[in-house]
Amino acid sequence: MKTHLAGRALPQFQKRLLTWFRAHQRDLPWRSSRDPYRIWVAEIMLQQTRIAAVMPYYERFLDHFSTVESLADAPQQEVLKLWSGLGYYSRARNLHAAAKEIVAEHNGKFPRTLEAALELRGIGVYTAAAVLSIAYDVPLAVLDGNVARVLARIHAMRGDLRVPRTWRALTETAEQLLARKAASDWNQALMELGEVICTPKSPRCLVCPVVQSCRAFAEGISGEIPAPRKKRAPVAMTIAAVILLDSKDRTLLVRDPGAHDEVLFSRMWQFPAIQVSREAKPELEKYFGETFGLKKLTLEELPSARHGVTFRNITLLPFVARVAKLPAVPRSRILALKRLGSVPVSSATKKLAAAVVGASSKA
Ligand code: ADE
Repeated sequence: MKTHLAGRALPQFQKRLLTWFRAHQRDLPWRSSRDPYRIWVAEIMLQQTRIAAVMPYYERFLDHFSTVESLADAPQQEVLKLWSGLGYYSRARNLHAAAKEIVAEHNGKFPRTLEAALELRGIGVYTAAAVLSIAYDVPLAVLDGNVARVLARIHAMRGDLRVPRTWRALTETAEQLLARKAASDWNQALMELGEVICTPKSPRCLVCPVVQSCRAFAEGISGEIPAPRKKRAPVAMTIAAVILLDSKDRTLLVRDPGAHDEVLFSRMWQFPAIQVSREAKPELEKYFGETFGLKKLTLEELPSARHGVTFRNITLLPFVARVAKLPAVPRSRILALKRLGSVPVSSATKKLAAAVVGASSKA
């Protein structure tokens, strides 16, 4: 795709955006240093996750693991614990693995070339370009959803931006527009514009520093770009979980992905659970009898909770069962329910635990 920002128009456009960014950028925690480790952690946390949600996790994570060496040396459980609740846990596993690679193969320094960065676990083209440009000013253009929306509006590009041909055109445009001598500020300026001015809904065109260059604004079609993506049809499912409690309010947590779809609990510690189709109780009784050798469980049903993961609409059905003795099963651990926060668990597990705490506080 040809950009109209060629010749003299390009440096003018770059200057307007850079000047705006340098004067108005938000004071975000990963902007206080050029340490590639800190920038890398931020980029991984920001994938699929809003800045406001990332913020407390980011600060806590870096307080714990202030260097790539400290992250590489940590047990995986500790890394997952600090990620617990942020979702998409493969990000944490990959981050941890890549930290070990950086220590073992790069002397603890984040590599400086695109090729070497792409070799690291969990680092794709976007993350490599973001870290190398922001930390080291390597002239690589970034393209994520925010930047794509900005570029598509400036060029009045219609249609679904994620279609491969369109995404390629956007990649080329991003490369043509890149301020090669100020890649760090440039890429962050485009992201910032997309996050605070050129927002998906109700863009603030009247205060946009580059509105003069925007074809969508000129044609009055900013609100129609990007065209909505075709969404995957939502899938409804019900997962029933049992919080076993012994006389000391200790509970059983397991690690096996159980019979249900493993995406929900992200291979973290969880209550034993199965996906159910109709009547949860008989299915749970059968499962507990066969898998844990627990017969004649008295299952008390608690209020259900909703949980959404990408296209899944999940109903969580918590049950409590009192037992004299918690069963001994492989890949499990026994823990006081109130100490659940001390091990890595997903948000779904936290919701299930909250149902028990809510029920007992009403009793
Ligand atoms: N979104 C992704 N990366 C970002 C960054 N470095 N700053 C602000 N928003 C971002």
